[in-house]
Amino acid sequence: MQVVPDFSAIASNSFEKNAYQALHWGKNFFGVAHKLTSNRVGTAVNDVRTLAEQLLEGTPPSLRQQRAQKLDDRTLQLVKERFEAVLEVDWQDAEAGLYPKSLLFDNPWQDFFRYYPQVWWELPGIWDRVRRKQYQEFDPAIDTDNYPKYYLQNFHHQTNGYLSDRSAELYDLQVELVFGGSANIMRRRIIRPIIDAAGYPDKSTRILDIACGTGRTLRMLRSAFPEVQLYGTDLSPTYLRKANQLLIDLPGELPQLLQANAESLPYADATFDIATSVFLFHELPGEARQNVIDEAARVIKPGGIVVICDSIQLADSEELGPAIDSFDKVYHEPYYRDYIRDDLGQRLRAADCKVLDVQVHLWSRYTVACKLA
Ligand SMILES: C[S@@+](CC[C@H](N)C(=O)[O-])C[C@H]1O[C@@H](n2cnc3c(N)ncnc32)[C@H](O)[C@@H]1O
Repeated sequence: MQVVPDFSAIASNSFEKNAYQALHWGKNFFGVAHKLTSNRVGTAVNDVRTLAEQLLEGTPPSLRQQRAQKLDDRTLQLVKERFEAVLEVDWQDAEAGLYPKSLLFDNPWQDFFRYYPQVWWELPGIWDRVRRKQYQEFDPAIDTDNYPKYYLQNFHHQTNGYLSDRSAELYDLQVELVFGGSANIMRRRIIRPIIDAAGYPDKSTRILDIACGTGRTLRMLRSAFPEVQLYGTDLSPTYLRKANQLLIDLPGELPQLLQANAESLPYADATFDIATSVFLFHELPGEARQNVIDEAARVIKPGGIVVICDSIQLADSEELGPAIDSFDKVYHEPYYRDYIRDDLGQRLRAADCKVLDVQVHLWSRYTVACKLA
């Protein structure tokens, strides 16, 4: 029997792939253009402010502000290659049926049009804090009691850190701009390691996303695994509120969200099959990183899986050293320098876990471990 290729399916697939790539290259160019423009405008505004102050004080004019480092051509080429590679992996994983293709196009356009002007509205206040070197400034109306001291920071220069509704509304868009449209692609890279390490999860599987933020990872997990029981915790009440909005309309059981410090999770031992954490560890001091790993290991069952997704580290991405070297200053990440030199494998072993796999995709590193029986 002669098999005739289904040309219409092939054509529609290649159209979809081109559309996917065009969308993400478009987001990438937009993110880069946003960063370049906002940096230039911010530097110019701060220069003018500083000179005006010096003029009023009668001091000789001098500008000693830190300028953002430009990446050399070789590093830019490497970043481009990694971006192309992660688009291909993302597409292939969807083709293989690990998650629906609709996830590849799940872009919050409404949020983009609503919040992008507000991102610019926030910038003058941010530039001013940067100029005054203020990195722990909170509105007096915000209750900052009962949070660990390391948490009370204007991470990424966000106004009121993680503790306002406005911050929660702008967060996803800001992260997408920082990562040039690849944040969700990097979050999705935890899906294959889960399946490889634990098999395809079913309705008896409990997955906990630690520091779930606005719920982006939970949303993808729900889409990939419609039947599993999902749980999320975060320290920020406003981010959890936003997560609830993002998750409430999805089909399937609503993920259970709880406000909690990841260093002392409010669950009994061996409650979960899988614990994930995305973009948390670089925002913790070393001791807190160990405490969170200990807690993740405590709440999963023997044989359970931990998947940590966070920034690449110097040991796995030396060639991108120049690109990540200034990240801590540009985005106010006070624990980043320590994080990129940390040995997460050793911390996992100290918590009775065995590292099964380490992967790197674009700006992120994925550490997959199993709790020893
Ligand atoms: C960079 S965001 C990542 C959020 C989310 N996982 C994502 O993929 O976008 C860091 C998150 O960690 C939370 N966080 C930081 N320290 C925490 C802690 N000790 N316990 C619980 N959540 C924490 C913050 O509130 C914030 O939502």
